Amino acid sequence: MEICVVGAGYVGLVTAVCVSDFGHNVRCLDIDEERIEALLRGEVPFYEPGLAELMSKNIDKGRFLFTTDIDFALKGAEIVFIGVGTPMNPEDGSVNIDFVVQAAKDIAPHLSPESIVVDKSTVPVGTARMVKKILLENGAPESVEVVSNPEFLREGSAVGDFLNPDRVVIGSDTAKAAETLKMVYHPLVDEGHDFLITSPEAAELIKYASNAFLAVKLTFINEIALLADKIGIDALEVAKGIGLDKRIGKKYLRPGPGFGGSCLPKDTHGLLHIAKSFDTNVELVEKAIEVNDNIPSTLVNKLSDAMSGLEGKKIGLLGLAFKGNTDDVRYSPAISIAEELVKRGAKVKAFDPEATKLAERILADTIEYAESAKQAILGADAAVIATEWVEFGEISISEFREWLSGDILADFRNIIDPKAVTKAGLRFIGMGRQG
Ligand code: UGA
Repeated sequence: MEICVVGAGYVGLVTAVCVSDFGHNVRCLDIDEERIEALLRGEVPFYEPGLAELMSKNIDKGRFLFTTDIDFALKGAEIVFIGVGTPMNPEDGSVNIDFVVQAAKDIAPHLSPESIVVDKSTVPVGTARMVKKILLENGAPESVEVVSNPEFLREGSAVGDFLNPDRVVIGSDTAKAAETLKMVYHPLVDEGHDFLITSPEAAELIKYASNAFLAVKLTFINEIALLADKIGIDALEVAKGIGLDKRIGKKYLRPGPGFGGSCLPKDTHGLLHIAKSFDTNVELVEKAIEVNDNIPSTLVNKLSDAMSGLEGKKIGLLGLAFKGNTDDVRYSPAISIAEELVKRGAKVKAFDPEATKLAERILADTIEYAESAKQAILGADAAVIATEWVEFGEISISEFREWLSGDILADFRNIIDPKAVTKAGLRFIGMGRQG
C-alpha cells in the first residue's frame, strides 16, 4: 500500500518505520527541514533502541523515505497517518491539538476520494469527527474517511510494542475503512493479535482511559509502598502477593518515585479536561495526579530525616530521565527530586547515561553534571538512584561504599538489594523496602 505519515516526531517516526517494515511504501513528511536533513543522515532525533536500525533497513529496501514536499508525500497515498505532537497546554493542562488541525488543513487539498486519514496522535474525544470537518472545509473529497487508531507505545520499547502489540484499536464509522486499516497491519492480523473495531469516540477514549488506568494502578502501589515503609515491611512482597491475583495482574506494580514522561502526566490531565467538556469529572484520576505530584518531596523528606537536614549536603544523583532506556526528561520525577534537593540547600551532582543534555535545559546550573556514575557519587554524603538504568544496578555495593564519603544509599527505583546495603555498613533508604 502507499502510505504517508505526517510528522517525524516520536509517534510519527515510529509508526512510519514500523508500517514500512510491514512491507508498505511509506513517505514520512515533516515541515522541519533540519529534522528531515538529520534523519536523511540516519540520525534519529531521540533515543529509541532499535529504531535507527529498522529505519535504515527499510530505506535500503527502497520502501521508506523522508520528505518536506507535501505534493510528493501525498501523491497517490491511500492511507495518511497524522502523527504530530499534541502537547499539554501548560496553563491549564488541556490538550493542544493545533498541530493536528494544521496537518488536516495542509493535507486536505491533496487527498483522493479513496483516501483514509488516520489519527495516530493522542487527541481528545471528538477529534476524528472534527478532523473530517476540517478536511471537507479545506477541499478534501466528500468520501474521505477519518479513523482513530491510537498508539500504545512505551518509550524505550516502542518498536517492540508496535510490532508485538497487546491490541490494535481501530475507531471507524465504516467497516470498509476498518478493513482497509487492518490491511496496513496485515502481519499482525496473520499473527493473531487482537484487533478491536469501535466507534472513533470509543477509540479516542480507550487511549486516555488506558493511560489513566496505568497512572492510577501505579499510584496505588506507590501509596501501598509508602505504607509498607511505615510498617517496616517489603512492598515488593506485597506487590507480588497482589499481582498474583490474575484479575489484578503483575505488571505496573513496581513502586518508584511516581509516573512521569510525556504521556501519563499529559493524558491524565487531558482526561480531566475531556470529562469537564462533557460536564462531569473523574475524581479518582484527579486524586492520583495529586498523590503522584507529592511523591518526590516525600522521598526527599526521608533523605532529609536520615541526614538531619540537607543544607550543604553533597548528593550524587543517579538518573535524570523519567525512566530507564530513554533520554526523555519531561515531567521526570528524577528532575523533581533534583529540584527539591536544591531547594533544601543540597549540592547535587548528577549523572544520566542519555538524558543529561535535555536535563540541563531544565536544571541549568542549579546542579553539577558528572560524566559517570562514579564521578557523581565520589565524595558525596549520599547516593540517590532516581532512574532505573541497568548500569546503576550493576554498581557493586563495595563500589558505592568506596566512592561515597557518607554512608547513605537511597534507591527509589528498587534495583539494589537493601539487605546487602546494610550488611556492607551503609544506611539504606528506599521506596517500600527496608535495609
Ligand atoms: C505510556 C504507556 O505505558 C504506553 O502504553 C502509552 O502508549 C504511552 O504512555 C503513550 O501514551 O504514548 P511511557 O510514557 O513510555 O508509556 O512510560 P511507561 O513505561 O508506561 O512509564 C510511565 C511512568 O511510570 C514512568 O515514570 C515509569 O518509571 C513509571 N512506572 C511504570 C513505575 O514507576 N513502575 C511501574 O511498574 C511502571
